[in-house]
Amino acid sequence: MRKDAKRNTKLTHSGSHPSDQSGIINPPIYRASTVDYETVAKMGVLRKNPNDNFVYGRFGTPTSKAFEEAVASLEGAERTIAVGSGLAAISAAMLAFVKTGDHILVCDNAYFPTRNLSEKFLKRFGVETTYYDPLIGSAISKLFQPNTKVIYTESPGSHTFEIQDIPAIADAAHKENIKVVMDNTWGAGYFFKPFEHGVDISVQAATKYLVGHSDAMIGTISMSGENIEPVINSVQILGYNISPDDAYLALRGLRTLNVRLKRHETSALKIAKWLSNRPEIDRILHPALSSCPGHDIWQRDFSGSNGLFGVVLKPLSERAMHTFIDGLELFSLGGSWGGYESLVLPTNVTRTVTEWENNDQCIRFHIGLENPDDLIRDIERSLKSIKN
Ligand SMILES: Cc1ncc(COP(=O)(O)O)c(C=O)c1O
Repeated sequence: MRKDAKRNTKLTHSGSHPSDQSGIINPPIYRASTVDYETVAKMGVLRKNPNDNFVYGRFGTPTSKAFEEAVASLEGAERTIAVGSGLAAISAAMLAFVKTGDHILVCDNAYFPTRNLSEKFLKRFGVETTYYDPLIGSAISKLFQPNTKVIYTESPGSHTFEIQDIPAIADAAHKENIKVVMDNTWGAGYFFKPFEHGVDISVQAATKYLVGHSDAMIGTISMSGENIEPVINSVQILGYNISPDDAYLALRGLRTLNVRLKRHETSALKIAKWLSNRPEIDRILHPALSSCPGHDIWQRDFSGSNGLFGVVLKPLSERAMHTFIDGLELFSLGGSWGGYESLVLPTNVTRTVTEWENNDQCIRFHIGLENPDDLIRDIERSLKSIKN
């Protein structure tokens, strides 16, 4: 496929090699541990370069390679490596670039388990974390220390939705040889092109939109040039791998990413705008609406939005909040997002250097592929049941 092919064409064709598999369009699911090297001489050759050959199930199979190739093409990276969850991808990416005595900067709106990784794990190994205001932009350079090695970004934050000025952060970082790692799950490699905006390593919880059907856990790490080797070493040393069945499901999900995302986008925007006129609502945290912090940067850097956004309700009692959430019929109450179905979740945010006082009033919606008018009716009916 031509390198300048448009993203929808890449989604359809990348990682597809029918001529290597009897003309069959999709790759088979290779379930593997052992690989037969046939001769000792061939074993030496294969094992010398485990990244480009199949040497053992943990190092990947033709099924996982097909998925990795498709994600690399989508993200615009030379290489993607897939692991067993989004959190595994975040951990392997961070561990690739830090050692005892180093310092990292983590955005204050980071996904909570990423904060855990910093505070409960990296700290034990002598890596110190400073949290920063996600809206800091180029002023991040004021937080640099001589031992700062990584800036971790997540844009938008998956509960509070601030959009970060990634190019400004990356410019400052690169002057000091600091790596920029981004959790690019919200943009899904489709609405945000990380490497065109200065990101060095792009991580996705492919569990969300790439899989798209709430039936598999996968993480991806995408990178180019000098960043490939440290990340692959990190994944292999940690023994992270991906199940071939999940790789197959993720590749299958990825093929329809564009049409699903567009539908999530239109429905979520319709519902967010409808909600913004409701008397029960204080404000909407949707990157495509001006009420969202960093909306102007979203307009500059992103080419679209998805089904995930936050809603800050006017002050209400805990009981009223429960009544509203429990009363929704078409929204499942659950973590994760990016599947075909609608979800709701009360927000529980932890902050270190910035204020977030809305935990008791804030919920997150994931708008699925249902008819948006049915979802609006469901929300409207449940809102009416709120009595403080
Ligand atoms: C923004 C974000 N990053 C990473 C993850 C972790 O992904 P996984 O659940 O696949 O470990 C999640 C999961 O909810 C997420 O929302």
